[in-house]
Amino acid sequence: MKKIVKLVGIVLGCVVLLVLVFCAYVAVVGVASYDPPVTPKLTVERTPARVARGEAIAQVQCMSCHANDENRLTGKYLGEIPAAFGKIYSKNITQDTEKGIGNWTDGELMYFLRTSVKPDGTFSGIMPRYSLMAEEDLKSVVAWLRSDRFPVQPTKQEAPEAEYSFLSKLLSHTIIKAGDYPQQPIPMPDSTDQVALGRYIADGVADCYSCHSSDFLDQDKLHPERSKGYYGGGNKLNGEGGKPIFTANLTFDEETGIGKKYTKEQFIRAVKLGVRPDGSTLRLPMEPRPSLSDYEVGAIYEYLKTIPKLKNDIAGKNAELQLAKK
Ligand code: HEC
Ligand code: HEC
Repeated sequence: MKKIVKLVGIVLGCVVLLVLVFCAYVAVVGVASYDPPVTPKLTVERTPARVARGEAIAQVQCMSCHANDENRLTGKYLGEIPAAFGKIYSKNITQDTEKGIGNWTDGELMYFLRTSVKPDGTFSGIMPRYSLMAEEDLKSVVAWLRSDRFPVQPTKQEAPEAEYSFLSKLLSHTIIKAGDYPQQPIPMPDSTDQVALGRYIADGVADCYSCHSSDFLDQDKLHPERSKGYYGGGNKLNGEGGKPIFTANLTFDEETGIGKKYTKEQFIRAVKLGVRPDGSTLRLPMEPRPSLSDYEVGAIYEYLKTIPKLKNDIAGKNAELQLAKK
């Protein structure tokens, strides 16, 4: 018996030691990195149609995280990201060749947007990854980044370096991994199939599920519907002035979701203009998305109708936050 106790003690001791060594390793090397990737050799043709589409996508995605007060993509502080992940700044993604991405090839951009791995192998686990975006839409984003539009014109202005917390570093070595570059180009969905289109816009383009599911740390980028609490809300983010706020339940649960709260028209108005049916304004970090078309947002509504309803009383949770503060 004594022998067994001793053995168990030794094994436990070794495990603790290994964990400590691993933590020390993570603290020293920082965020994980990969071998510099082999990126696709391609040149994206910059047609006016692509630039226009890329701009519309950028307005639901890139602008909110990368644009400064003057609407230039200089990079900035991202206050809505919980402090546990560190002090996160985005980057200058203008055409500047020194501070921006003027020297990246089109293939390097496509590769990074799909996998979160930069040309030098640096990994970014915070920047959303567009694993499901159609090839044509991703090319439109690249065409826009190369265009003559104001936000992408070169500037040397840049944000400070991000300070990643130990948790962020640890996650990059464990559960948050780089994505794979798709073997085959991803096709556009059939736009006459509203449910398929809605799913594509919500999960593949606008990344609605990542905020509106329970937890950033329990998400499946290739199969978003397997993410914990898919569209049930309750992800705790920083809102206006750093005040905590829970994301809304967007499933059609009649009591706690949007089943009874929103008609399709009201939903379109809320998403495009940021106004609830009662006329009140949606709070940050929920931003209006006027560049999505009524048809696209209506399609998201049709898609949300088809997913499992989840009971999650967000209004109650947000009210509790208010009370806790008083
Ligand atoms: C939720 C916020 C967020 C959104 C949305 C976002 N980014 Fe980023 N992006 C970041 C952060 C943070 C970094 C810095 C990551 C790092 O260096 O570790 C970054 C880095 C980058 C880089 C690497 C630049 C460099 O020099 O290292 C590129 C390129 C980029 N983003 C492009 C885009 C494009 C294009 C879009 C829209 C399709 C976009 N981002 C949307 C947060 C975001
Ligand atoms: C950066 C995180 C984030 C993203 C991305 C996001 N939302 Fe939200 N959303 C929120 C938060 C937080 C709230 C709660 C706002 C409030 O209570 O005032 C919210 C509220 C809403 C509401 C109001 C629900 C209600 O119960 O009144 C709707 C509708 C909505 N979002 C739809 C969407 C759609 C559709 C998308 C994708 C196009 C999206 N959201 C993307 C964070 C986000």
